[in-house]
Amino acid sequence: MSSAPFTISPSSSENVVEPEGDAHAEQTRRALLLGALATACLGCAAQVHAGEEPPGSDERPQKGDVLVFSEGDQEGKLIAAADVPSGGPPVHAWPKDPKTSVVRSASRLNEILIIRLDPAELDEQTKARAVDGIIAYSAICSHAGCPVTAWMKSDVGDKEVFKCMCHNSEYDPRAGAQVVFGPAPRRLAALPLALADGSLSVAGNFIGKVGGAQPG
Ligand code: FES
Repeated sequence: MSSAPFTISPSSSENVVEPEGDAHAEQTRRALLLGALATACLGCAAQVHAGEEPPGSDERPQKGDVLVFSEGDQEGKLIAAADVPSGGPPVHAWPKDPKTSVVRSASRLNEILIIRLDPAELDEQTKARAVDGIIAYSAICSHAGCPVTAWMKSDVGDKEVFKCMCHNSEYDPRAGAQVVFGPAPRRLAALPLALADGSLSVAGNFIGKVGGAQPG
C-alpha cells in the first residue's frame, strides 16, 4: 500500500504536517492573492494620481494668462478675439497659464464670461477695461454662487443681460455688471483683458469679490 508523501509547511509556526499536494495549492493561492493585491494597489495609486490637480490649477487668473473655452465643442481651445460674437452671447472661459499649459479649472470661481459689445454702449469705467468692445467678468453669481448661465432680455428693460437662473439676478455688462434685478448684493467681479495679434489674455487680477455672499 502506498501513502501520500508528507512535508512540513515552511510558513507554519506550529510545524503542522500537511500533504505535499495541499502545500503547493496553498503556495499557489498565496501567490495569486499577492498578485491581486499588488494589482489593486497599482490601481489605487493610479486613481490617486489621476485625482490630483496640477499645481496652479486652482489659482485665480494671473496677468499674462491666455483664455480657453470652458464648454462646448471647442472646450480647451484657445479663445481669439474673433471667437467672441458681437452683441453676445458670452463665451464661457477658463484662464490658462501659457508657460505650464495648466488650465485653472480646479476652482469653479475661475470661470469667466467674455462678451463683445458696442463700445458706444459701455460706461466709462467699463470702456476703460474693454479691448475692442470685449470685456470679461466672473461667471459666479454674487448672491449664492450659482453659475451665471443665461444671456437674455432683462425683466426690467429692453436690453439683454447676464442672468443667473437660480434666483433670477440680472447683471448689466455695459455698466460693470452692476445688478439690475434680483437678490444679488453686488456686481460680478470684472477681469481686465489685453489683446495682442488677435489673441486675448488676462491683463490683471479680478476687480471686486468673486463668489456668492451666502450659501445656496
Ligand atoms: S445664486 Fe444667483 S440669483 Fe441666487
